[in-house]
Amino acid sequence: MKNYDAVVIGGGPGGYVCSIRLGQLKQKVVCIEKEEVGGVCLNWGCVPSKALISASHTFEKMKDSAIMGLTVEGTVKHDVGKMQEWKGGIVKKLTGGVRGLLRGNGAELVIGEARVTGPNTVEVKTKEGTVETFQAKAIVIATGATTIEIPTFKFDGKQIIGAKEAVSLKEIPKRMLVIGGGVIGLELGCVYQKFGSEITVVEATPNLLPGIDTDVSAVVEKKMVKHGAKIMKNAKAAGYEKNADGSLSVRIDLGEGKFDTVVCDTVLVAVGMRPNGAGLGLEEVGVKVERGFVPSDKQGRTNVPSIYSIGDVSGQPMLAHKASKEGEVVAEVIAGHKAAKDWVAIPGAIFTDPEVAVAGLTEEQAKAKGLDIRVGKFPFAALGRAMAVNETDGFFKVVADKNTHELLGVQIVGPSATDLISEGALALEMRAFLEDIGLTIHPHPTLGEGFMEAAMGGLGHAVHILNR
Ligand code: NAI
Repeated sequence: MKNYDAVVIGGGPGGYVCSIRLGQLKQKVVCIEKEEVGGVCLNWGCVPSKALISASHTFEKMKDSAIMGLTVEGTVKHDVGKMQEWKGGIVKKLTGGVRGLLRGNGAELVIGEARVTGPNTVEVKTKEGTVETFQAKAIVIATGATTIEIPTFKFDGKQIIGAKEAVSLKEIPKRMLVIGGGVIGLELGCVYQKFGSEITVVEATPNLLPGIDTDVSAVVEKKMVKHGAKIMKNAKAAGYEKNADGSLSVRIDLGEGKFDTVVCDTVLVAVGMRPNGAGLGLEEVGVKVERGFVPSDKQGRTNVPSIYSIGDVSGQPMLAHKASKEGEVVAEVIAGHKAAKDWVAIPGAIFTDPEVAVAGLTEEQAKAKGLDIRVGKFPFAALGRAMAVNETDGFFKVVADKNTHELLGVQIVGPSATDLISEGALALEMRAFLEDIGLTIHPHPTLGEGFMEAAMGGLGHAVHILNR
């Protein structure tokens, strides 16, 4: 039996960051990963999808920059094989980097499948086929989440696919039906739309990107529709039949007894993820597991004090950056430092076209809480820099307390929204007032000026739009 300070189960953005931090804090740590370090995010989620998103954006820019006086002789072509190779190279570089960081910080890595056998013991079936037992003061559960499958659309890896297959397609589907108008459905829907697929999105609720203000998601929807996408809301895919030519006829339930049929070549199912808390032996050692989640407190402890949980498996939101921060906190706690999860906001970044990014309360959430608020909005179309990059769709929105002017939330839909939101997150963490943002000199000409103007707009004196 091997003795450690900590065994971390799962090598995704939660587990590997936790292991690195534990190593930095001179804790003897082993990270157990059953596939490849980096987890879903690095191997087939965030990183590969962003590579494809950037390729599709560049492809569109190459075709659509005539207004800038830029035209291409002949047609702009794409080579999916080469694109996949490039994407694979990025993933390989990053996973190699993570292995190096683990090693460099003294954290061991074991490839194998782990099972918790006691409050301080973990059994691992290694890749080599041996079974090893690890004893540790602390066990960290960082096992992430798995794509939800719809029973009537069982994945076949070819025509009925999830996000994992969708970032590795060898050909661009002629017609793609996306079930679920959430984050994955729209990000990948936008990619294949730019490469020429006819896209239909079927979303069960009345709005795309549930949880995001409707005026924000409407900007993404409008652009997708302008480029030919068909968006079916309040609709569910009920089943499908395979046609003689290999295509699929998908039956769509529109509610109130009405149905429609959509013919497509590929169905991307993106209806959410379920947490991987079951089947790890946790219940047997007394750890509470709720619908697959392993809940933990502000220090990441489950109801069994030596067992911690971080990332997707510990609760919503299922975001890589939340997992990493939780990993850092738990590492500090295990090393005996004073640490806790006490952030004000976990920003969200959605890489659609245009991008969407949020931090803190949305306008709709603030109103639902009965808060007395003021809202400042500023359009990208009023920014010289947005015109210069030829991307003027969207706006900045700030939500603040009506009387104190304390910032409560930021939403951005538009170019580079996912980069711009970090300033909003910092402002929320610092408990900034609209005056703090409005009085901060933002360099000109930049997209970031929109945040300053929205804050001033909230106070009734934006400079570059008329205040109403
Ligand atoms: P999601 O929860 O974002 O969206 C799922 C959508 O499917 C929802 O709009 C839901 O109403 C709809 N839906 C559910 N059942 C349906 C049905 N039977 N028919 C039609 N629509 C249905 O989940 P998604 O997009 O699969 O993403 C999974 C997770 O991955 C999320 O938790 C997300 O936070 C995370 N993620 C985050 C990214 C980012 O932050 N950029 C990128 C990709 C994933």
